[in-house]
Amino acid sequence: MNDDDEEFHCRDIKNDSKDDNSDSYEDEDEDEEPFKKPTDQKTDSEVIAKEDDKIELSKIKESRYNSKVEDDNTDDEEEERGYQEKEKQPQESEQGDREYGHSKPHDDYSEDEREESTHDEDETEEEGFIPDPQTHVVTFIYEDDLTEPVLLKDNIFERAKDSLHLDAIPDKLPGREGEKAHIQAFLEPKINLGESGGTLYIAGMPGTGKTATVKEIIKNLQVKRKKSAIKLFRFIEINCMQLSYPDQLYQTLYSKLQFGRRSARPKTSEEALRLLKKRFNSNSAKKDFVIVLVDEFDCLLTKKEQTVIYNLFEWPNKPASKFVVIAISNTMNLPDQLSSRVKSRMGLQRLPFQPYNTQQLESIIKYRLGGLEAFDQDSIQLVAKRVATVCGDARRALEICRKAATIALQQNELDNLVQKVTDTHIDEVFKQFSLPIRRKLNQLSLFEKLFLYCVCKESKRINSLEVVYGAVYRKLQETTLSKGMYCPTESEILQLAGSLGGYKLILFEDDKPINWDHLLKLNISQVDLFYGLEEDEDLQTII
Ligand SMILES: Nc1ncnc2c1ncn2[C@@H]1O[C@H](COP(=O)(O)OP(=O)(O)O)[C@@H](O)[C@H]1O
Ligand SMILES: [Mg+2]
Repeated sequence: MNDDDEEFHCRDIKNDSKDDNSDSYEDEDEDEEPFKKPTDQKTDSEVIAKEDDKIELSKIKESRYNSKVEDDNTDDEEEERGYQEKEKQPQESEQGDREYGHSKPHDDYSEDEREESTHDEDETEEEGFIPDPQTHVVTFIYEDDLTEPVLLKDNIFERAKDSLHLDAIPDKLPGREGEKAHIQAFLEPKINLGESGGTLYIAGMPGTGKTATVKEIIKNLQVKRKKSAIKLFRFIEINCMQLSYPDQLYQTLYSKLQFGRRSARPKTSEEALRLLKKRFNSNSAKKDFVIVLVDEFDCLLTKKEQTVIYNLFEWPNKPASKFVVIAISNTMNLPDQLSSRVKSRMGLQRLPFQPYNTQQLESIIKYRLGGLEAFDQDSIQLVAKRVATVCGDARRALEICRKAATIALQQNELDNLVQKVTDTHIDEVFKQFSLPIRRKLNQLSLFEKLFLYCVCKESKRINSLEVVYGAVYRKLQETTLSKGMYCPTESEILQLAGSLGGYKLILFEDDKPINWDHLLKLNISQVDLFYGLEEDEDLQTII
C-alpha cells in the first residue's frame, strides 16, 4: 500500500486501535474497506484555494448548551442512568474527550427545546455550532442601510469572497425545491404522529447540496417547532467519516442521544449496542422523537460485515423506537452492494440528487452574491457551464468563483481599474487549479488519459463517484471504435487500469485482481482532470 493511498485505507490504520473487547465484528474483513469519502479529501486545487484564503469568517459561533438529562421511569432508562453514574469519573471523561475531540457536534435541540424536553440540570460537554445571523451573507448583501458600514467590508471583492465562502450558510438553496419538498414530506408527518419508521436514503455526487438541503429542512422544522406548529423532535448528526471503524457508530449515537455527555458515553461498542437496543425496544412515552442524519454513509460499508447498517435500518422499523434515519451517500448504487439480509430490512425511500446543471449553478452563484456586482455575468456563466459539463458540483463552482475574486482583489490592490471578475480571472483559476494535475497527466500515455476520461464520463452518467470497471472498459472501446482508431485489447486495458491505480490517479475498492464488476473511482477532482486533459490535442480529437 502506498502512502498516497492513506485516505482510501486510513481505516485500516485506525482499526489497529480498535478495542479488542468492543464487539461482535471479529470476522470483519479489514481488507474490504469501502472507498473513503472524497468530499473532505483535499485535492491539490483545494489546497491552492485554501492557501489564499486569508479571511477567517466568524460565521459560525460556538455556544454551550445547558444539557439536561431526561427523567424517565422505565427500567431501561433506569439502567442507562445507572450506567452513566458508573462512568462519572473525571479521568475517563478526559480520555473520552480526546477520543472524540475531533468530531464536530451538531444537534439537537434549541435551548428552548431542551428546557421543554428535559428535567435535570447537567453539565454538557458538547458544543453546538450555530450560524450567526449577524454575519449571514444574504442579509449583508441586501443591506440598504449604508449608515452601518461596520458590517460591510469596503472592497467589493472581499465581500464577494465572504458570500461565496463554503461555510457561509445561505438562507435558501436554489435548485433543490423538489428534493426539499420530498424530505419535508417524509419527516413532518412522522414528527407529528410520533411515528417511527423508515429510512430516507439520499445519494448523489459530492457538492450536489445533499447535506445542505437536509440541514435546511431541519432548520425550517426547528422554526416551525418554535412556533409550536409541529411536535417536538430532536436532530442528531453523525458523520461516518469521523468514525474510526463502523461499529463506533453505536457509541457515537448513544452518546449523542444522551446530549453528548462524556459520562454517558459507553466504553465499548458492545455496551452501546445493548443500550441502544433497549432504548429502541422500550415503550417509554417520554422518549423523544429523534431524527438522525447519518452523513457520508458509504464509509460504513464493508462487504462482509454489515451489521451496523442492518441495525441502523432495523431500528426505525421498531414501532416504539420513535426514530427516523436519513442516510446520505455519495454512492448511488450502495443499496445494491448490501447483502440481501440488510436489504430486506431497509424499506427505504431513495432520493437521488442529480448534479446541478448550468442554469442551476448560475442561480446558486448569483444567489450567493446577492446584488453584489463583483462579477461579469459572462464569467458566472463560464464557471457554471464548465463545472456542469464535468460534475455539477456546487462546492467546486463556488471555490472557483471565490478564487477568481481573490485574483481580482490582488489585481485591484495594484490597479484600481480592475472592477469586476472577468473570464480572464476564471481562466487563470482553471490554469492554477489544474497545474499539479497537468504535470501528472503529461506523463501519461494517450490511452491512459482516455481511460481517465471514460471514468469521469461514466461517473457523471450514473451520478456516482464509484463506477464499475466493465462500464469504463466498454466506454473506452466504444470511443476508440467510433473514431476508427486502434482499440486496445482486453489485457492492454487491464494494464492501463493497473498502472493508473499505481499512480494513484484511480482507486480500486480492494487490492484483489481487477474484474469486470470491480468498483473504482477517480482520485483527482473531475474538474481538474477535465481541464488538465484539454492540453492534449490528440485526445481532444478523440473525445
Ligand atoms: N442549491 C445550493 N445553493 C447554494 N449553495 C449550495 C447549493 N447546493 C450546494 N451548495 C453549497 O455547496 C457546498 C456543498 O454542498 P453540500 O450540501 O455539502 O454537498 P454534498 O453534501 O452533496 O456533498 C456547500 O457550501 C453548500 O452551501
Ligand atoms: Mg455532504
